[in-house]
Amino acid sequence: MAEKLPYQDPELSVERRTQDLMARMSLEEKVGQLVQADGRKDALLQVREKRVGSFLHILGAPTLELQKLAEKTGLGIPLIFGIDAIHGHGFWQGATVFPTQLALSCSWNPELLEIMGHVTAREMLCTGLHWTFSPVLCLTRDLRWGRVGETFGEDPYLIGVLGAALVRGYQGKSISDPDSVIACAKHFAGYSETVGGRDASEADLSERKLRSYFLPPFEEMVKAGCRSFMTGYQCIDGLACVVNRWLLTDVLRGEWGFTGFVVTDWNNVGRTHTEQALYPSIEAAVGPSIHAGNDMIMVTPEFYAAALSQIEKGTLSKDDVELACRRVLSHKIEFGLFDHKRYPPLQKAPEIVGSAAHREPLLRTALESIVLLKNEKAAGQSKRILPLSSNIRHLALLGPNADDTLSQLGDWSFGSGQASLNTGGHPRHLVSTVRDGVREKARTRAIGVDYERACDVMSNDTSQIARAAELAAAADVAVVVVGDVLDQTGETCDRYELDLTGGQMPLLRAVKKTGTPLVVVLINSKPLCIPWVAENADAIIEAFNPGMLGGEAIAEILFGEANPMGKLTVSFPASIGQQPVYYQQIPGWHGNKHTGYTSKPLFAFGYGLSYTTYSYDKLELSATQINPGESITASVTVRNTGGRAGTEIVQLYLNDVFTSLSTPEKTLKRYQRVHLERGETTTVRFELGPGDLSFIGQGNRPVIEPGEFEIMVGSSSRDEDLLKARFTLLE
Ligand code: BGC
Repeated sequence: MAEKLPYQDPELSVERRTQDLMARMSLEEKVGQLVQADGRKDALLQVREKRVGSFLHILGAPTLELQKLAEKTGLGIPLIFGIDAIHGHGFWQGATVFPTQLALSCSWNPELLEIMGHVTAREMLCTGLHWTFSPVLCLTRDLRWGRVGETFGEDPYLIGVLGAALVRGYQGKSISDPDSVIACAKHFAGYSETVGGRDASEADLSERKLRSYFLPPFEEMVKAGCRSFMTGYQCIDGLACVVNRWLLTDVLRGEWGFTGFVVTDWNNVGRTHTEQALYPSIEAAVGPSIHAGNDMIMVTPEFYAAALSQIEKGTLSKDDVELACRRVLSHKIEFGLFDHKRYPPLQKAPEIVGSAAHREPLLRTALESIVLLKNEKAAGQSKRILPLSSNIRHLALLGPNADDTLSQLGDWSFGSGQASLNTGGHPRHLVSTVRDGVREKARTRAIGVDYERACDVMSNDTSQIARAAELAAAADVAVVVVGDVLDQTGETCDRYELDLTGGQMPLLRAVKKTGTPLVVVLINSKPLCIPWVAENADAIIEAFNPGMLGGEAIAEILFGEANPMGKLTVSFPASIGQQPVYYQQIPGWHGNKHTGYTSKPLFAFGYGLSYTTYSYDKLELSATQINPGESITASVTVRNTGGRAGTEIVQLYLNDVFTSLSTPEKTLKRYQRVHLERGETTTVRFELGPGDLSFIGQGNRPVIEPGEFEIMVGSSSRDEDLLKARFTLLE
């Protein structure tokens, strides 16, 4: 057997192996390692010609074929395969598809994110994939933006906590662990600060705003050890992120100490020429993009030839190419690609993907994500409408999202924008829709269920609504499942309205007219403007896109087998023009509202009901004055005052009362999920350290200013749900 060369020797250090490999490579081969290509186009040829280091959007057996070819070509450098496995390995038929990021964020439970990451990693690996373009750390701002559902909501602190957990889930203790994949923090940075909610429009961000809200979640990903970052599409203050060296190198590597590698987003380099008109040619963008700090170029087909010609011309430096190539190769080595640790046991995929163990957390993730927004007593009733009373004998289940597997699974799964990866959808029996879940629960309780889809989300046809109203009139309760569909969400699907479209409002009004108690279930990618629903429904359940067992979870909640515990991570506007309604507002001078309209969101960040109730009492601080450098503790008594056990999410917000630069009146600093039996009381304690009192001050640096601070603790970000206490930070 031929002796191993140093770069092939797993006993040597990653540095030593990388160095040895680099010394054997031609400049062309090095440039090839920076290329990430679309695996659906000319893949074999590119591998044979050593013009590619990575592919995306290719899965299963074809990845193995390409890998084998790569290993027989030249120095045998393996390929790294990436995929958007965003809330499960959604593009592999039969994989375990979890609630979307936005849905799952409403659990405020990092443990669930870690589980999702781990399951996804295992399912990816046995289908040939190594690297997921997840998590998304963008902050929700304008709700018209198509990608709101991909985010963890609107709060930087919570996004950091949940994102770090997802990274831990994907990467495990180390990326050389055989069960780990590489995570990718995206889209770096400020991508969600769109103008008018229009995707990838220029972000109007100052450095201070970036550092105050948009960058902190990304910094948390570096602390969590996330090994790759993806560059955002848009420009900030005129400069495209892809050529922003300050962002990709000075901040990311210099300030935060990131040692991973950076990939551009899809054709970022090409688009600086074709869309953003920043360069007269694609060639001209190549040097600045690599120099800025990108190590791998996602799908800019012109890149390889352009890079070589630009090196020749001197606009792309060989040193920059060396550096980027070294980062890519050292990750391939550390990940184990050269040591065959990553050969996927494809024949094992059927055992691993969608296994019982992997599906086990599906119900729990959906249950903890669901938010109860309203629960009133129906006219003439003494009890709240939910959970449904045991006296109910007849239920009308209506609406276009009651039995729609695609809406339920959401974006980045079959049926979504990336449709050419569609192989016919996930097997139907793996998905429990609301119709499936309700039918099952009703059967065991001898309740009759009449189902009628009644209308469409995208067409205005109302011909079936009369029939639906008849069913509602004959029932003891009507459960109407409405929301949005895939055509209204994701990239290139920004909206100009946030209504319940098509026949949905006519359906709801017709059901209301019957006088039958009305429960509205929302299956949607993001907050919609639903003032009519808020006023007229007796109960509202918000499920967002709740994953494969979402229907079962919703049914458990409807029938009271489970107690809802989710809280919103994104605020709902009452009207589209009322935006922005995210809770971290800076106070304005003139009432901060539009003429004749409230500035309050319809449903606020942190809000969510339960089948039990909680009281908050005795907010106490460890001191009324502290010295610089000291910590302070806040404690509060929380009691379960209702009729059943539940989990409450106790939230702590801080207000630095007077600041030399404007700051929001509330910033989430801590939270705790506490389980309380009926009648149980607990004391929840939070400690804030000196760093928690800082804000981004003059010169864009964190400052701590002495003076008054207000701590607010309660069940949501609404003033009426918060207890407040003040302390002073002494000079
Ligand atoms: C999206 C990214 C995604 C990439 C690869 C881009 O269009 O913005 O979020 O990871 O495509 O699919």
